[in-house]
Amino acid sequence: MDGRRPRGVLIAASILDSDLGALGEEIRRADAAGVDRIHLDVMDGHFVPNLTFGWKMIEAVRRVTALPFDAHLMISEPGRWADRFLDAGCDSVTFHVEADTAANSRATLERIRAAGRSAGLSVKPGTPLSALDGYRDLLDVILVMTVEPGFGGQAFMRDVAEAKLAAARSWLDPAGACEVQVDGGGRAETAGIIGGGGTDVLVAGSALYRAADMAAEVARIRSIADAARATTLS
Ligand code: DX5
Ligand code: ZN
Repeated sequence: MDGRRPRGVLIAASILDSDLGALGEEIRRADAAGVDRIHLDVMDGHFVPNLTFGWKMIEAVRRVTALPFDAHLMISEPGRWADRFLDAGCDSVTFHVEADTAANSRATLERIRAAGRSAGLSVKPGTPLSALDGYRDLLDVILVMTVEPGFGGQAFMRDVAEAKLAAARSWLDPAGACEVQVDGGGRAETAGIIGGGGTDVLVAGSALYRAADMAAEVARIRSIADAARATTLS
């Protein structure tokens, strides 16, 4: 499965802080700016203190781009809803390890994989990576949160990133079967730490949607992250 790990750092645009009144256009804008994926933050007002959107909206914008859609579910009972996000055309579905029982989480990961999509678990800043130990055989993605889930535009937790990315490198098998995503506070100023930690996918929301020139910002973040990652993995 080594071949699944990308050579450079992929950039995923989180649309949370985009103009949701023109979401289709905002996704096209990220596509034109050169991002690799669209990151969709689903919140239920229960698992996190914010509400965003569900599968209907994802389904409605699925056709505006060929880029992969990564769903990041910050919801309680993710197993109850995961199939809807698969039906809506998400290429990967990641939910929180804190959100369900171990048995339910395993069953949900199995269903995502059975649908031929990538299955992921996310950890909040305060949750150790060892919380994922019981799922190692079922994970395609681990998503390390470097802000408390709920809102875009928060400050990057550098200590969390450094500690978790170091742990992830020893936690993953040597073949690197799992993709590592870092989510929260991704921007040019933090891209060196994120890439240097061996991250595969850097999620950036406010840094891209608030940039004067999104394409230039994508290129800047990518080059900093790639250079740092190449040093770490060489
Ligand atoms: C936070 C979300 C993140 C976040 C990214 O709950 O999961 O995806 O919105 O936005 P920035 O890059 O602004 O931190
Ligand atoms: Zn997210």
